[in-house]
Amino acid sequence: MTVQPTRDDRFSFGLWTVGWTGRDPFGEATRAPVDPVEAVHRLSDMGAYGITFHDNDLVPFDADAGERELILKQFRGALEETGLQVPMITTNLFSHPVFKDGGFTSNDRDVRRFALRKVLTNIDLAAELGAKTFVMWGGREGSEYDGSKDLSAAFDRMKEGIDTVAGYIKEKNYDLRIALEPKPNEPRGDILLPTVGSALALINDLEHGDIVGVNPETGHEQMAGLNFTHSIAQALWSGKLFHIDLNGQRSIKYDQDLVFGHGDLTSAFFTVDLIENGFPGGGPRYDGPRHFDYKPSRTDGYDGVWASAQANMSMYLLLKERAQAFREDPEVQAAMRQSGIFNLSEPTIGDGESVEDLLADESAFEKFDADAAAERSFAFVRLNQLALEHLMNAR
Ligand code: GCO
Ligand code: MN
Ligand code: MN
Repeated sequence: MTVQPTRDDRFSFGLWTVGWTGRDPFGEATRAPVDPVEAVHRLSDMGAYGITFHDNDLVPFDADAGERELILKQFRGALEETGLQVPMITTNLFSHPVFKDGGFTSNDRDVRRFALRKVLTNIDLAAELGAKTFVMWGGREGSEYDGSKDLSAAFDRMKEGIDTVAGYIKEKNYDLRIALEPKPNEPRGDILLPTVGSALALINDLEHGDIVGVNPETGHEQMAGLNFTHSIAQALWSGKLFHIDLNGQRSIKYDQDLVFGHGDLTSAFFTVDLIENGFPGGGPRYDGPRHFDYKPSRTDGYDGVWASAQANMSMYLLLKERAQAFREDPEVQAAMRQSGIFNLSEPTIGDGESVEDLLADESAFEKFDADAAAERSFAFVRLNQLALEHLMNAR
């Protein structure tokens, strides 16, 4: 069963996803490169609404100004013809050997200045193409050896780099926000800002943190054994979920970038449930693009590339339908009530109640029967079984 996506679903893809030729650390490319103009047309025909890219996915690192203009002109032409949008742009600070020790946090100051210039040029392009989000994934910002970096200085330079770019965005009055993308490792042995939590903490220390949020990727949290739905939930709660990279990962190993839902399907169900249905008791909602950052397996030819792009959207829409059925099911609602899901929205301290009032409330402590309360069954297994039955369309 394939579900047909529409532009209203706001699905977007990185040019580097369908454009991945299959080169990995152990083997050469298994597919010929894709023409970006063809990618725009194919994605548009399939029902996607957006395409995203790193500067060098489109314009080669060593292209001169004339070549750059020509490539951008052809790309803009394809966008105009199809109506496909560019909701997000990002900068490649990891492929060229010059970035082997990072961009913003390289131990070489000249490299750091070059990296900043490369990003600022790309910020202008992002604004020009109408992108609303500028992703920063610092894949090379890290180390293999703990003694190879002054880590305090590295965080200073990270902050300096991000604040410089954010300050430039404000100065230029661009309608653009930055989204930091965490990843625990790969390509570096350890990457700075390994998790969503680390990125959120750094944002609090920025000068221009108001326009900086996060772009969590499913597999990046799961590579570290973390719960992706919890991570996006905290980002949402902090008002910092600016963008999202959906894909699949099967447990703690190298970054697989599988099709969304082809990794941990139950986790994918709850991710879609959160994005589409929100928190059970209300709270902030995500309204950005549903962006897929996956790699079509190198075992597949181009038939498989386009089929896997379609599969991401189908998986998402099928899960959306299943998650809606789950939430609407009266039996589920009753089970949620029984499990105390809605009770958690009630503040623990009463309206107008002071700490002194709480301390004086004997029912809360002196007369509280902890043993009796401990007997309550939260019945979470029953609730989870209902979720899985809906996920399997068995209800
Ligand atoms: C990865 C990353 C990258 C980034 C992208 C944006 O798989 O390690 O997801 O794909 O998202 O490079 O800069
Ligand atoms: Mn990844
Ligand atoms: Mn990503």
